[in-house]
Amino acid sequence: MIVEVEKQNHGIDLIKIDNDDTYIVFTNYGARIVCWKYHDNNIVLGNKVEADEFYPENPYKFGATIGRYAGRIENASFNLNNKYYQLEENEMTNQLHGGSNGLDRRLFDYEIQNNITNIKVIFKLQIQSKEDGYPGDMMIKVIHTYDVEHRWTIEYEATSNEDTLFNPTNHVYFNLNRDNNVIDNHSIISEQLKMYPIDQNHLISSQQPIDLLERFNHRPIQFQDIFNSEDKQIKEQIYFNKGLDHPFDIGHHRLIVENNEFALDVETTMTNIVIFTFNDTSEWKSDFNIYKPHSGVALETQYLPNDINNEGNKAKSILKANVPFYAKTIYHISEK
Ligand code: GAL
Repeated sequence: MIVEVEKQNHGIDLIKIDNDDTYIVFTNYGARIVCWKYHDNNIVLGNKVEADEFYPENPYKFGATIGRYAGRIENASFNLNNKYYQLEENEMTNQLHGGSNGLDRRLFDYEIQNNITNIKVIFKLQIQSKEDGYPGDMMIKVIHTYDVEHRWTIEYEATSNEDTLFNPTNHVYFNLNRDNNVIDNHSIISEQLKMYPIDQNHLISSQQPIDLLERFNHRPIQFQDIFNSEDKQIKEQIYFNKGLDHPFDIGHHRLIVENNEFALDVETTMTNIVIFTFNDTSEWKSDFNIYKPHSGVALETQYLPNDINNEGNKAKSILKANVPFYAKTIYHISEK
């Protein structure tokens, strides 16, 4: 395996890892993945050449580390230890993805470890309560490891000096099709596929998820089966979202996404995955925006969004002062 660093403008570096059949690129801007290729097939959305302009402008958060809190917090506020916290409202009255000063927009320090069977890029960042309004100053590490088996592993390590919320994810979008055509032909496979209904503001509207394995009697289930479903509840969810933007319970912390050529095996220590099929691509007025709806699917491993308001002090996103946080997600790509 070979690793090279390319310096760009504004302190943005590209860290390029070559592993013969596959190639992967990370950047310190938001501890992101920028590119992942299997031979000449780019399997993630990104732009490896012009990262310095592309990423700060891109509102879709391609490949970025999201935090402190992935997804929406209703009314941008919550109670923790009987104290009320008001956060920045950056999507109507809610907060999305940690606010405008979230981890996706921060330059991380990093070091590279070149090991025999893998290369590790250890990204580090210190954040302060006054920068984003959450309680606690935190030390955060995001460790991207790429190994000879074409496995990309993300590990999150963090500590806070006060009780806080921490629900990080990576906002990578996949497209396994060689021709980059829409992801409607991709299948999703897991021992459990339960989808939480959401409301017009994309917040979970019911704690009773829709059991897709029960509603569809064929396997595997493709995205287009869900998009074209005649089931009343599914149809309504797809209609007003123009696709999926839903938290899922999956079985045994594992989900496989595949097309006829490639399989992507996702394993995580987190409890849920938000599946977002990039439903509206019109928001970004830029020549860089070459994307049509459904040109990628984000597989965001995380705790249930808005858990602090739905579950109170049982919320999994609560991180106690000085208790180390650890989470891991592995994306493994293979040819079928
Ligand atoms: C997703 C979110 C979508 C959309 C997208 C863009 O995680 O659920 O509704 O906002 O991020 O960043």
